[in-house]
Amino acid sequence: MSDHTVLFVDDEVNILRAIQRLMRNESCEVLTASRGAEALEFLESRPIQVVVTDQRMPEMSGVDLLSAIRDRQPDIVRMMLTGYTEMNVAVDAINRGEIYRLITKPWNDEELKATLRQAFDHYDLKGEIRRLNQVTREQNFKLQDMNRTLEGKVRERTKQLADKHQELRIAYVQTIRALAEAVDAKDAYTRGHSERVGVYASKMARSLGLPKELIERVYISGLLHDVGKIGVRDAVITKPDRLTPVEYDEIKEHPEIGARILQPVEFLSDVVPCVRHHHEWYDGSRNGYPDRLRGDQIPLPSRIILVSDTVEAMTSDRPYRKGMPLETVVRELHKFSGSQFDPRCVDVMLHLLEDEGENFIQKNQKFDIHAFLEV
Ligand SMILES: [Fe+2]
Ligand SMILES: [Fe+2]
Repeated sequence: MSDHTVLFVDDEVNILRAIQRLMRNESCEVLTASRGAEALEFLESRPIQVVVTDQRMPEMSGVDLLSAIRDRQPDIVRMMLTGYTEMNVAVDAINRGEIYRLITKPWNDEELKATLRQAFDHYDLKGEIRRLNQVTREQNFKLQDMNRTLEGKVRERTKQLADKHQELRIAYVQTIRALAEAVDAKDAYTRGHSERVGVYASKMARSLGLPKELIERVYISGLLHDVGKIGVRDAVITKPDRLTPVEYDEIKEHPEIGARILQPVEFLSDVVPCVRHHHEWYDGSRNGYPDRLRGDQIPLPSRIILVSDTVEAMTSDRPYRKGMPLETVVRELHKFSGSQFDPRCVDVMLHLLEDEGENFIQKNQKFDIHAFLEV
């Protein structure tokens, strides 16, 4: 049985019979109605794809019937088969009935059959397009849904990664801190020295407006600046009296030893030169060591650390003297600005000391790595 049905509507029984004869061998089912009302009842009771109607009929004209069908079942393909080809009827059928074709009586048999086949194709094609549109819409919804889920997952994973990264960075800094503490522990007098130099240096770096990444490098370099003292004899490090020139030469090796110790650590490669040059003099004079670099040749973190180191050392007690007051430190900074120290670093330190006073050199301060990494 065919899934195509055409309904012919005509008030002349002879015409309907002729049509049925003509369609006998076609693969579609053929229904006939002699009135508009009867045609509409058919449409309610079964699926029909094509309607072909006469125009002049009692009670309801063909145009009225097609217009009613268009309102109720717009997908049905509508055609008019009429002997009256007046312009106004054709225009009405097109405008109100939105018809697919207008066929004139008497018709050509083959043409009529061909037109019907086209009408079914037209119906099927429109149905297929509708179906594809529906499928596309559904797939779009599914895709949007998947996208949302995916976005959520990516957000979640990104957050997990960021958290892990944060944990790792904290662990990294804590490890370096432990190393620095081990160095300072060699001498009771220098306990906390490296941490404080790191803190002072990071404050200077911030005041200089350096980017976060560089502030961190300055802090880490501050922590590690004296790591080379591991390689200097304890007797020299902890000697309570002033050092002899030979012993002083031994101490002066610590920046190079430190650089050598850190060299193999890949993630500290930026820190190595900062450690190596933290005792260079800004004027490039022979007082500086180990390479007698000058000015901008000296890494900025090294210049910052030298000032921090000096302030920390001068304000801390030593076996042979007490920590010095800030005025003495300020005087010293002024005195050596431009020779030992980068004047820019001295200015920044003087500002910090002016702003914070004694608070700046508090002994128990620590760099707040959590706060630093979170911001
Ligand atoms: Fe040092
Ligand atoms: Fe130091």
